[in-house]
Amino acid sequence: MVAGSLLGHKLHWERPSTKGVYMVQEVLPTRREMPAQRRSIGREKHAEQYRTSAWYDGSGEIVAGADNRSFCVQATYTLEATVKLVDGVFEVGNPTLAELYRARGRCVAVVDATVAELYGAEMQAYFAHYDIALNEYVCRAWETDKTPDTVLTILKFLGKDGCDVSRNEPVLVVGGGVLSDVAGLACALHHRRTPYVMVGTTVVSAIDAGPSPRTCTNGSQFKNSLGSYHPPVLTLVDRRFFRTLATGHVRNGVAEIIKMAVTDDPTLFALMEEHGPALVVSHFATLEGSESLGAIADEVIYRALYAYMKHEGTNMFETYQDRPHAYGHTWSPRFEPAAKLMHGHAVSIGMAFGATLAVEMGWLSLGDRDRIVNLCRAVGLSVYHPILTDLELMAEGQKNMRRKRGDGGLWAPLPTGIGACDYAQEVPLALLEQAIGAHRDYCEQFADGGAGHEMYLSDLGLA
Ligand SMILES: NC(=O)c1ccc[n+]([C@@H]2O[C@H](COP(=O)([O-])OP(=O)(O)OC[C@H]3O[C@@H](n4cnc5c(N)ncnc54)[C@H](O)[C@@H]3O)[C@@H](O)[C@H]2O)c1
Ligand SMILES: [Zn+2]
Repeated sequence: MVAGSLLGHKLHWERPSTKGVYMVQEVLPTRREMPAQRRSIGREKHAEQYRTSAWYDGSGEIVAGADNRSFCVQATYTLEATVKLVDGVFEVGNPTLAELYRARGRCVAVVDATVAELYGAEMQAYFAHYDIALNEYVCRAWETDKTPDTVLTILKFLGKDGCDVSRNEPVLVVGGGVLSDVAGLACALHHRRTPYVMVGTTVVSAIDAGPSPRTCTNGSQFKNSLGSYHPPVLTLVDRRFFRTLATGHVRNGVAEIIKMAVTDDPTLFALMEEHGPALVVSHFATLEGSESLGAIADEVIYRALYAYMKHEGTNMFETYQDRPHAYGHTWSPRFEPAAKLMHGHAVSIGMAFGATLAVEMGWLSLGDRDRIVNLCRAVGLSVYHPILTDLELMAEGQKNMRRKRGDGGLWAPLPTGIGACDYAQEVPLALLEQAIGAHRDYCEQFADGGAGHEMYLSDLGLA
């Protein structure tokens, strides 16, 4: 037995008989010894000796009050999340996934049913080639399946009576945003935290929902209301999956790229102005298009991901309100389901309206507002819907968002230029009404009134 002292505190390191490792045991001083001041207690060695995960870490500090009746714990949880562009994730020449799963001899995967139909054989051949057993759960992941029941079904698959996944074993999730949300939440709940690797197969899950820390299901309150902050430990982005997407889904995802271009990256914005329409038509150069369009597709995806994770990754637990990726998402959660719009179209209407609001507030020039609206229109995204003139509904959406974002205000991200934004802490009702009127008048100039291509869920057979 060795006696040591850490920050003025007595500790005993005891060597257990079999394992040959030291254990830390803290010995509280007797009451008489307690100094009449605050003390900090740290713990040593557990990071090297007792670590439970390659991706998660944590530390804490406990500070005792001088009254011998209270103490305060401050704990920090750290995680590592890698995002990578890859070509041909299930091509045998690409060892990325094999290297991750080879040592375990198996890969436990949750796969979107449509993706399993299209890519299941390729996926099975990949793991068979590397002699890795593939235990798959094929999951229907429609928007209507985003329920606690689906999460529970996935949990059953991961649990004791299923694959009995340990808390260190990364689960592979392959699919769109619906699956990344529900399977990510199941992983967050399984053993309280189990890592997962995300292969996003839609534009939305590749650049937005996939690497996002927000895992969730719809609750009885509203969309995505139940969830946990649990990002994948590895996100693999392979645009080859986009070739089989309906074009409407490609366009839908482009709204999230424009969101990051407007608020964070002027170069990305210029790339989208020049190549956005071609990227939609060619499904990011997977159906047709030159090698150079392929390189542009990669650059656009990388820039969108980088801009997004620059803000998400440094605010994983949403402890700060400066979230540019919420641009276009302040009023839309209220009018999107009411008008049965595709999410991307609701976001682009929200972005266009937000740009006009920013003009009314003197934050944005008319020229920059026009560039934002023109870019959305050029790729077939909507910029206006008559539902915006329902002031009661818009005010309600604003009230909902203020409640969700906390007591401190609305914190609506609005552009201040191309590649920059600021946050409107409040939008008084009179200003909201004025901006709605201005946006309606502005959009009247468009022959289609600002409508987009395949803007409704029903256009893609989703309602
Ligand atoms: N957590 C977040 O931060 C976050 C961010 C954005 C969106 N989301 C959520 O993501 C969801 C939308 O995601 P989505 O747009 O990916 O929709 P989705 O998951 O419904 O996928 C769209 C459709 O494409 C199919 N599909 C998937 N990959 C395919 C492929 N490669 N080829 C052919 N078909 C394929 C799916 O089966 C589905 O029918 C919403 O529920 C939204 O709330 C979450
Ligand atoms: Zn979104």
